[in-house]
Amino acid sequence: MHLSSPTPFPVSRPRRLRRDSFTRNLVREHRVTVHDLIYPVFVHEGQRIHQAVPSMPGVDRLSLDLLLPVAEDCVQLGIPVLALFPAIDPALKTPDGKEALNPDGLIPRVVRALKQEFPDLGVMTDVALDPYTSHGQDGVLDETGYILNDATVAILTGQALAHAAAGVDIVAPSDMMDGRIGAVRQALEAQGHVHTRIMAYSAKYASAFYGPFRDAVGTRGALGKADKNVYQMDPGNTDEALREVALDIAEGADMVMVKPGMPYLDIVRRVKDEFHVPTFAYQVSGEYAMIKAAAAHGWLDHDAVMMESLLAFKRAGADGVLTYFARDVARWLQK
Ligand code: PBG
Repeated sequence: MHLSSPTPFPVSRPRRLRRDSFTRNLVREHRVTVHDLIYPVFVHEGQRIHQAVPSMPGVDRLSLDLLLPVAEDCVQLGIPVLALFPAIDPALKTPDGKEALNPDGLIPRVVRALKQEFPDLGVMTDVALDPYTSHGQDGVLDETGYILNDATVAILTGQALAHAAAGVDIVAPSDMMDGRIGAVRQALEAQGHVHTRIMAYSAKYASAFYGPFRDAVGTRGALGKADKNVYQMDPGNTDEALREVALDIAEGADMVMVKPGMPYLDIVRRVKDEFHVPTFAYQVSGEYAMIKAAAAHGWLDHDAVMMESLLAFKRAGADGVLTYFARDVARWLQK
């Protein structure tokens, strides 16, 4: 039916390049590799602690003795970086979260042990107060319950210094206070930690996709019905993400991040196109839980969806992804 067409066949046949796997491989623009993966893990005080997180099937809170073999597995698989999140003993939680400053707290001890055992495995820590505060917010409150900015930044700076002193490679402020990247960078420089990298959670949205994570670190109960809307970004905004990224780069971030991941791929693309800096995305706990739940029902093919979801991050412009699937992906890539 090409009555008005000059030729009796389609001039271009895009399907030619899709015909064989060798041409599909040859022309593929984006790929997931093991080098793209950052593996978030939950650490717990004690020995032989292995607590499943029901809303995150396949994810456990581990004590250091059980984390070490996981770290070794990551080294074997070639995963470049572990991201540590603590489940803090409720007895240590206070309104000001000051346990975050303890140079011998859980996270500094885990960092030291990991760097000693596996010097070539990158270690990244979260800089935020929510695991340490009795109310589960990422900062300290005034008498009305409002999250104070500058007082929080002062504590976060001390937390980042404690992690740097323990030898962490990357600190990742995930709190969304104004000016924290500059404050952390200046403090690190002043203390001689010139190699400590900062991955800024620059465009972190006030998202309902963090629910399972709050189960894992044990903050969901303390937060109750409270939200984080007075510091995390409004999901309706995109220009604001660019302003946040611009500030963090100007303040000394080495890498920036967008979070959550798959529902915010438009933000990843805008950030990458605008700034051309190392840009990461966090496939957060709720995204992981959705895929796990659907796969458990047999509604989605687990591995196929896992790999497609990660490829989508790369296509959107991400240089790497924090994902709870990291070890599964690395194993899949070896097949
Ligand atoms: C807290 C923090 C959160 C996540 C990473 N760091 C949760 C929050 O802001 O409440 C979420 C990660 C995930 O959902 O996987 N500073």
